[in-house]
Amino acid sequence: MEKYVIKGGRRLEGEVTIAGAKNAALGILAAAVLTDEECIIENVPYVQDTKVLLAAIENIGARVKYIDKHTVSICAGTIRDGKHLEVDDGNIRKIRAGYYLLGSLLGKYHYANVALPGGCDIGARPIDQHTKGFESLGANWEIVKGGKIVVRADELFGNHVYMDIVSVGATINIMLAAVLAQGKTTIENAAKEPHIVDVANFLNSMGANIKGAGTDVIRIRGVERLHKTEYSIIPDQIEAGTFMMMAAATGGNVLIKNVIPKHLEAISAKLNEIGAHVIEYDDSVRVMSDGRLKSTHIKTLPYPGFPTDMQPQMAVTLALSRGTSIITESIFENRFKYVSELARMGARISVEGNTAIITGVEGYTGANLVAPDLRAGAALVIAALAADGFSSVEDIKYILRGYEDFDGKIKGLGGAIELIDDDDDRSMQKFRLKVG
Ligand code: UD1
Repeated sequence: MEKYVIKGGRRLEGEVTIAGAKNAALGILAAAVLTDEECIIENVPYVQDTKVLLAAIENIGARVKYIDKHTVSICAGTIRDGKHLEVDDGNIRKIRAGYYLLGSLLGKYHYANVALPGGCDIGARPIDQHTKGFESLGANWEIVKGGKIVVRADELFGNHVYMDIVSVGATINIMLAAVLAQGKTTIENAAKEPHIVDVANFLNSMGANIKGAGTDVIRIRGVERLHKTEYSIIPDQIEAGTFMMMAAATGGNVLIKNVIPKHLEAISAKLNEIGAHVIEYDDSVRVMSDGRLKSTHIKTLPYPGFPTDMQPQMAVTLALSRGTSIITESIFENRFKYVSELARMGARISVEGNTAIITGVEGYTGANLVAPDLRAGAALVIAALAADGFSSVEDIKYILRGYEDFDGKIKGLGGAIELIDDDDDRSMQKFRLKVG
C-alpha cells in the first residue's frame, strides 16, 4: 500500500494548475450514455473515481476511449439489450457516483440495475430523494439481492418534483432521468452547485432542454432524443480550494490557475476574513499569507454557502490561527473524523455534535497519520506540510479518488512530499536524506 511521506515547514510558493471538476465529470460521464452517438468530453480529471465510472460504462457495452489523458470519447451506441443491464463490477460500489447510472440508464432504457453506492463514510447518505424523484416520473424501484437497486418504468412522464433536502446527487439524477421523459419536469428546491450547472450545460449541448440550472427551480422539457457533442468540464472548485488553504496554512504565495473565481467566493471570503490575502484574476486566484491568521466561524451549507467538502481543509488552517474558531457541519454528520489525527499533531479541537470548537495553536508537530476519507485526507496532507518535522499519511487511496497528481503538484510548489510504498524503508531513507 502506498503512503505519503512529508517534511513540513516549507512555505509553498509558485503556480499550480487545477484539473477538471471531479463531481461534474461523474455526472457528465454518466450522462453521455443517454445518446447512441459519440460524446467527446475534455478536461476529465484523471482520478480513481472517473476511471472506475468509465470502466463501469465500458463494462455495460459502451465504447470508451481515452483520446488523451484528459479527453474521453464515449459512444453508448454499442450497448446491447439495455433493458437487462447490470452495473456491478466490484469497483463501482466503492464510489458514490455509480448512482448516476441509475438516472441515465433509467432515462434511456427505462431500466437500471446498479450496485448501491459507496463513497466516503461521512454520514448516512441515503438516496431517498433520488428514488422519490424517479417515482414522480413514473418509475418503480426495489432493492434486490446482492445490495443492488433496480429502477424500472414502462414510460417516463415529466412531473413536479419537490426535494425535501437540497441534494446534489438527487438533482443531477432527476435531470438525467427527465431529459428524455415525455413532457415537462420541474425540480423545486434543487441544488445550485457549479457542477449541477455543468451537467445541465452538457445535457443541453446534447439537445436537452433544461432551464434554470444554478437556481432553486430547474425546468426540463423532455426531448425525443439526444445527439453527439463535444464538451469541456469546468475546473474543480474543491481542488482549487484545497490548494488555496494549503497556501494559507503554510504562509505561502501560490497562483492557482484554471479556476472560475466566482465558484471560489465562499472560500476566498473566509480566507480574506482570517487574514490571508486572495487576489482574483480572470481564470486564476493568488493566495498569499504571512502565516499570521486569525479565527472565524463557519457553517457548511449548500452552494453558494461554504462547501462541506472544504470543511476539513479549513479546520486544519483555523487550528493554526489565533483565537477560537467554531465550525458547524450542517450537511454530513460524520465529517470530523480527522480531528483525532490532528490532535496527535498538537491541534486543540473539541467536537460536540455537529460543531467543532477550535483553539488555535502556534504550530503542528509531524506525526504518522491515517486518512479517514477523501477531503479529510487532503486536509491532513495540508497539516503535515505546515507541521514541524516528518509526517506520513496512510490510506491515501481516498485522496487518489479525487486529486490528480496531488504529490506532483505539491512538489511543484516546493513542498517536500513523496509517495512511497508502505514498507519501503529505502525510499523513506532516501526521502529523509533528500529533504534533510
Ligand atoms: C455530493 C458530492 C460530495 C459533496 C456533497 C455535498 C458527488 C459525487 N459528491 O454528494 O462530494 O460533499 O454533494 O456538496 O458529487 N440526502 C438525503 N437523501 C438523499 C440525498 C441526500 O437525505 O436522497 C442528504 C445527505 O445525507 C446529506 C445532504 O442530503 O446530508 C446532501 O447530500 P448530497 O448533496 O446528496 O450529497 P452527494 O450527492 O452524496
